[in-house]
Amino acid sequence: MSDAPKSHGRKAIRPSLKPRELMTERPELARAWTAQIVTLFPEAFPGVLGLSLTGKALQDGLWQLDTVPLREFGEGKHRNVDDTPAGGGAGMVLRPDVMGRALESARRRISPAAPILYLSPRGRRFDQSVARDLARTPGVTLICGRFEGLDQRVLDHYGIAEISLGDFVLTGGEIAAQAMLDATVRLLPGVLGNAESIEEESFSQGLLEHPQYTRPAEWQGLEIPPVLLSGHHGEIAKWRRAQAEKITRARRPDLWAAHEAAKGGKT
Ligand SMILES: C[S@@+](CC[C@H](N)C(=O)[O-])C[C@H]1O[C@@H](n2cnc3c(N)ncnc32)[C@H](O)[C@@H]1O
Repeated sequence: MSDAPKSHGRKAIRPSLKPRELMTERPELARAWTAQIVTLFPEAFPGVLGLSLTGKALQDGLWQLDTVPLREFGEGKHRNVDDTPAGGGAGMVLRPDVMGRALESARRRISPAAPILYLSPRGRRFDQSVARDLARTPGVTLICGRFEGLDQRVLDHYGIAEISLGDFVLTGGEIAAQAMLDATVRLLPGVLGNAESIEEESFSQGLLEHPQYTRPAEWQGLEIPPVLLSGHHGEIAKWRRAQAEKITRARRPDLWAAHEAAKGGKT
């Protein structure tokens, strides 16, 4: 069942829309959770977000995707968007005046309560709690950098937070944006058919998920743990919990310590 506002219902949406057509402005979705992507490569969207659950949710109007093509705000005949770094050095930097124009245009089309985030290896590390927080906002404006990144003055002027996908350097922010949007959109009401799967999956209770099995009962001489075939729901839940704890303790001591500390705080 969908918790989405009624005005976003399927009847209002043409069912035959193709992935990129899903992204054009649709006034009927004015209140749907909105992702705006400022990018030099709008053709990279919706990308994988147009597939499977996120794609179906886009089609159903549970969220909307709006690309802001940075090139259109560029300078001069060639629509230049970048220039050499002040102080010298390799590469190019995205110009503040160009990004400023793109943002002014973008922000007119989204709730002022939607944060603006710059995808950047220097930012706070994206995780499930950031995804949860974003899913509670009206949407987000994501700035995808390229080259050596964005002029600092844009970040200072608009008070833009930086967010990182991890400790590695990508060529541009588009892949990071898609990963973050995938993690966020699946938390929006009505996107996942079975809400229980959110409650049990990795990170939802501060633990990694237990191992999963399915048929056949035996494969390559390996059997499904008998408790999972026992039909005893209490025993199954106990086994899953013990496995989740064991895996978290072994693989992620940081998560395990936080989990234990939170438990201690509760008692
Ligand atoms: C080549 S990178 C620039 C890296 C920058 N010169 C630095 O050393 O921090 C170009 C763009 O890719 C994006 N990007 C790269 N790595 C990222 C990461 N780990 N998380 C999010 N975005 C990233 C950012 O938008 C960045 O502006």
